[in-house]
Amino acid sequence: MQQRQLGKSGINASVVAFGAWAIGGWKWGGADASESVAAIHSAIGSGINFIDTAAVYGFGFSEEIVGKAIANQQRDKLIIATKCGLRWDIETPVLHAESEGKRIFRTLDAASIQLELELSLKRLNTDYIDLYQTHWPDPETAPDAVMRVLLELKTAGKIRSIGFCNASTSDLRTASETGQLDVDQERYSLLDREKEADNLPLCQEDSLAFLAYSPMAQGLLTEKLSASREYGKGDLRIDNPRFSKQNLNAIESMLRPVKTLAMDRGVKLEQLILAWTLQQPGVSHVLVGARNAEQAKSNAVAGVLTLNDEELRIVSEAANSWKGFS
Ligand SMILES: NC(=O)c1ccc[n+]([C@@H]2O[C@H](COP(=O)([O-])OP(=O)(O)OC[C@H]3O[C@@H](n4cnc5c(N)ncnc54)[C@H](OP(=O)(O)O)[C@@H]3O)[C@@H](O)[C@H]2O)c1
Repeated sequence: MQQRQLGKSGINASVVAFGAWAIGGWKWGGADASESVAAIHSAIGSGINFIDTAAVYGFGFSEEIVGKAIANQQRDKLIIATKCGLRWDIETPVLHAESEGKRIFRTLDAASIQLELELSLKRLNTDYIDLYQTHWPDPETAPDAVMRVLLELKTAGKIRSIGFCNASTSDLRTASETGQLDVDQERYSLLDREKEADNLPLCQEDSLAFLAYSPMAQGLLTEKLSASREYGKGDLRIDNPRFSKQNLNAIESMLRPVKTLAMDRGVKLEQLILAWTLQQPGVSHVLVGARNAEQAKSNAVAGVLTLNDEELRIVSEAANSWKGFS
């Protein structure tokens, strides 16, 4: 498994990370706790040492599962990333989302970040976080003020590195001017390449790690997805227009040459696509969601797969032909 540094932090993390949103259950039609723990153990057994979770995933449940799964592991071999800034237990002036009877609010107020960190440490059953990230920007708190709080937590030894998610380039610049920012985490996949225009070049210039989230477009870029797929109650994909029959057909036809290439190489379509993603300029890591041991093991293969120039050209040509979702 290849490893790459998280910015200038000196921390090396596997290029394929275990994304722990789905194992929180919320928005993913529920999750089975023992299957989730097995998925994390399978990821670790396959060379993945990097786990990305968030307080809000399953309203603390994802962090608790990660805490359980790592309890019998060597803590210093693991890179645990989590996030703050989305609260479901208080109200703030900034409503982030409303779903399944829950209202989620944004805040990156200093006292809130400090409290959230303590709660995450408890759920994760650890005394430090390797990478602490803001989940979404808070329009009520300036990025330099947020950065100062995070830098204090780093000085106190509670966190080892700092990241911003879903951030504008101007917020990333302000944060970097305030202190050492290590990571930018953004949505990026073969179907979602908007960040090539702004965040990715900035990350390269400023030596920030770029963590690509939803790199399989939440399952759209996997072999198994078809229009007949049924989802559990509450799964975010049920009413999502990106998963319409029309879009699925368009994606399938766009990916035809990529599928052939995957067959020629003897790998799965999603493994090839993740490997391509990892070879895009500026992308340092892919955060891949997995719900069971088999998926986790399979996704790890992307971390040992290198595409040659001709293979990259074939996948890029298909990606460039994608006209977007209808
Ligand atoms: N910072 C943010 O705002 C943010 C936002 C989104 C995600 N993230 C991070 O990025 C991670 C990954 O993103 P994501 O979960 O949205 O999307 P993703 O990684 O693109 O897709 C994950 C889903 O694909 C399916 N899958 C996984 N492995 C598979 C395999 N080998 N074969 C076939 N299907 C497979 C699983 O769903 P099924 O089995 O149900 O099909 C899984 O839940 C998250 O867990 C989280 O850590 C961060």
